[in-house]
Amino acid sequence: MHSDVKEILFTEEELEKRCVELGKEITEYYKDKEAPVIVTVLKGSVLFFSELVKRIDLDTTMEFMCLSSYENTATTGNVKIIMDLRQDIADKNVLIVEDIIDTGITLTKVKKLMQDRGAKDVKIVTMLDKPSRRKVELEPDYAGFTIPDAFVIGYGLDFNEKYRSLPYIGILKEECYK
Ligand code: IMP
Repeated sequence: MHSDVKEILFTEEELEKRCVELGKEITEYYKDKEAPVIVTVLKGSVLFFSELVKRIDLDTTMEFMCLSSYENTATTGNVKIIMDLRQDIADKNVLIVEDIIDTGITLTKVKKLMQDRGAKDVKIVTMLDKPSRRKVELEPDYAGFTIPDAFVIGYGLDFNEKYRSLPYIGILKEECYK
C-alpha cells in the first residue's frame, strides 16, 4: 500500500467484479435499443472505462472529453472544456462514464451539454458516488459504489495529478492535503 494512503476502500478485484456486474446491467438496458456512444470524462475515468467497456456486450463507439474544474480537493464550479468530442451526438444514445460524483456540478453540466447537442437519451455511469456532498440534484443511473465523505485516490483518481495509477481506491491521508 502507498504510504500516503490511510485505508484501502476497494481492491482491484472488487473493482473488476463490480465492472462485470455494471457491464451486464448496461448491456441489458440497451439490448433492444441503439448502442450508445460512450462518452468518457478524462482523465479520472480512464481506468474505470477500460475495465467497464470490456464488459459491455454492444456495438458501442467511444468518445472522450476533458474538463477542468478541480483545484486541490474542491471543485471550482467553473467547468471548462479542454478537449471536446469528435462525433456529432445528435439523435444518439449517450452513456457518460465518470469516475466520481461529488457536488454533481460537473456532470450536471456535461449532461446538459449532451442534451443541448440533441442526444436522444443520456445515461450516467459513475464508479463512485459521494451523495453526502451533493450541491445540485443529480442521480447516476448506474453507480459502482457509494462512499462516505472522504477524499479518495487511485484507479484513475488523483490529488494534484498524483496517484492515478494505483490499482486500488484508497482514502488519502489528511496530512497530504491539509
Ligand atoms: P463534482 O463536480 O463536485 O461532482 O466533481 C466531480 C469531479 O471532481 C470528479 O470527476 C473528480 O475528478 C473530482 N473529485 C471529486 N471527489 C474526488 C475525490 O475524492 N478524489 C479525487 N477526485 C475527486
